[in-house]
Amino acid sequence: MAEKSCNLLITGANRGLGLEMVKQLAEKPIPNRKIFACCRDPSAPKAQSLQELAKKHPGVIHVIRLDVNDLSSIQESAKKVGSIVGKDGLNLLVNNAAMATYDNTETAKLKDLQDTFNTNVVGTMMVTKEFLPYLREGAKSSGKAGMSCCKAAVINISTILASISQAPEIISLFPVLALSYRISKAGLNMMTVCQAQEFKEDGILFALLHPGWVRTDMGGPDVSITVQSCAYQSTTLHQVI
Ligand SMILES: NC(=O)c1ccc[n+]([C@@H]2O[C@H](COP(=O)([O-])OP(=O)(O)OC[C@H]3O[C@@H](n4cnc5c(N)ncnc54)[C@H](OP(=O)(O)O)[C@@H]3O)[C@@H](O)[C@H]2O)c1
Repeated sequence: MAEKSCNLLITGANRGLGLEMVKQLAEKPIPNRKIFACCRDPSAPKAQSLQELAKKHPGVIHVIRLDVNDLSSIQESAKKVGSIVGKDGLNLLVNNAAMATYDNTETAKLKDLQDTFNTNVVGTMMVTKEFLPYLREGAKSSGKAGMSCCKAAVINISTILASISQAPEIISLFPVLALSYRISKAGLNMMTVCQAQEFKEDGILFALLHPGWVRTDMGGPDVSITVQSCAYQSTTLHQVI
């Protein structure tokens, strides 16, 4: 009998951590998996690396258009993924797409605040909402007990900068910059904790991950952790899958 499929979806997969997660997951010997690598403009030059990677893994990486700020694009992507996974459903959704602005109370602009909140919280919530039916299918059809990323899970990529319990320590290390980003990720944290309770009975795991300070467009160039060595990659996702 063919081995059960493992279907994964990652948002913001055309660069940074998202692209590297797709690459490392595609190279892993997980039988029968499909990786839905989502980005807002698959035909744009900024998606070229992802398109090249997809060509190296035909039938494994599916590049899907998904702009987390555009509900119709989220709904269309969900329909498309649903039609490919069928009754196997979706096993892992990684909400990775995000944006950051570098502001504080005095420099913050209304539009930046709204865009950051819309992308990091509202968009992420709508993605989870639209893919829920397929996550439920994934949980049901997995035949696995307990909770895991092989069954059905939503991993929301957050940041230690949004930790309230560690705020005094973190703020002394990283002064208040990226305030809009921190506030939005704190919202994401609360959303995740609530969703973990809301979908417990469905057997869907909800988790938050801080990937470390990583050298990407967002993390900046003067950082020692590369995307390849990112602790998140090596110590969490790879082992739980
Ligand atoms: N790098 C770090 O040090 C660090 C630290 C803590 C947490 N994180 C978190 O890790 C995750 C990945 O960060 P990164 O460093 O890889 O960031 P990045 O290099 O800036 O990449 C961000 C990704 O999100 C996508 N994105 C932004 N807005 C989008 C939208 N509306 N719809 C769909 N995709 C959208 C971008 O696509 P486009 O190319 O289309 O813009 C890009 O693929 C984020 O959640 C971030 O908050 C990063």
